[in-house]
Amino acid sequence: MAVIAGVVTESAPGERRVAVAPSALSVLNKTGAQILMEAGAGAASGFPDSEYADKGVRLVKTRAEVFSGAEVVLQVRSLGANPETGTADLSLLRKGQVLIGFGEPLTAGAAAQSLAEREVSYLAMELMPRITRAQSMDALSSMATIAGYKAVLIAADNLNRMFPMLMTAAGTLTPARVLVIGAGVAGLQAIATARRLGAVVSGYDIRAAVKEQIESLGARFVVLDIEAGGAEDKGGYAKAMGEDFYRKQQEALGAVLAQQQVVITTAAVPGRKAPVLITRAMVERMGPGSVIVDIAAERGGNCELTKAGEVVEFNGVRIFGPVNLPSAIPYHASQMYAKNILTFLKFLLTKEGNLTLNREDEIVKETLVTHGGEVVHPRVRELLGLPELQTVGQEK
Ligand code: NAI
Repeated sequence: MAVIAGVVTESAPGERRVAVAPSALSVLNKTGAQILMEAGAGAASGFPDSEYADKGVRLVKTRAEVFSGAEVVLQVRSLGANPETGTADLSLLRKGQVLIGFGEPLTAGAAAQSLAEREVSYLAMELMPRITRAQSMDALSSMATIAGYKAVLIAADNLNRMFPMLMTAAGTLTPARVLVIGAGVAGLQAIATARRLGAVVSGYDIRAAVKEQIESLGARFVVLDIEAGGAEDKGGYAKAMGEDFYRKQQEALGAVLAQQQVVITTAAVPGRKAPVLITRAMVERMGPGSVIVDIAAERGGNCELTKAGEVVEFNGVRIFGPVNLPSAIPYHASQMYAKNILTFLKFLLTKEGNLTLNREDEIVKETLVTHGGEVVHPRVRELLGLPELQTVGQEK
């Protein structure tokens, strides 16, 4: 029988995205999969019910109807990423049901345990491996793209100058100088956006491999006089470095920072707290009116002074610690997320249209957090202090 996938209104406070946007429904063509959706679930993203209905989505009035009628539930923020209101969904989930969404499994272990107790098979979108085969399912990259773009708009909106150079009858205005720290997905999009607005942009990353990418966007690659050999792991991610390295990095970056009016920080090391790259003393060297937008705020921040969800003013410099930036651009964020999650769903379907979890496959192995009443993900188990599972890798 064809799979029925459920979509509900996101319940996290302030969340405006939806897991499935109408434009992405074509991903499921020929799979036979059906979408069952709570009426109004796309409204906050700018997608009226009629757009879904036109594409064959079955709309129902309540959240409970979606949970009871669907074999798999698709969310943007499931329990672990929605601690305040997500618990209400626990009683709606049933044994054997599949749940896919962001759920912060590496920090919200207790939520994973609750899902295991309900005997739900939970697949975490943030654990999608960054491999070629899974590129179109990589929702973290999609959301980072949106965050990088929006971070620059926040900076531009709050800076006491314009970004572009202007030659006017009233004189020449010099362009804003923008430094982007961390040139991963979010950072590269921030660089591109700041360039489009006409700023003079520099980019810095611990991984020398990104030099070309930074330069191809028309920005200058900042080279610090410190040894960062071995900063990249096999997956192309940054590794955590020692205290001594971070101290040297802060010293060298301080001089660069003093010349900027805008700093966007995006430095992240997977599964860890964000590294502190900007100290109070470094902020003191920046000119009044300068702006720092620290999008690593949710992970503790790249700046010592950052407070998640707040704006801190220090010595005339404003430090923004925005959280959930993708939700501020819900239309495109949902469109991208929907493409990622529906491609993932399609990947989990057999030719006959049945949902299977092939635990030998890297994508399933990496994303499957709970299954058969247990937390099955080795890293999540380790974080919860649970012993290694002997059955991992085998279908139960
Ligand atoms: P990514 O892993 O693609 O990029 C992070 C970059 O930081 C990498 O290029 C890495 O080499 C670099 N990095 C790590 N340590 C460094 C150091 N000591 N110095 C310089 N560079 C260093 O990550 P992505 O996807 O670009 O996300 C970046 C950040 O944005 C993450 O912290 C993520 O949680 C955050 N984010 C925030 C959102 C928000 O709403 N505030 C939304 C989406 C992402």
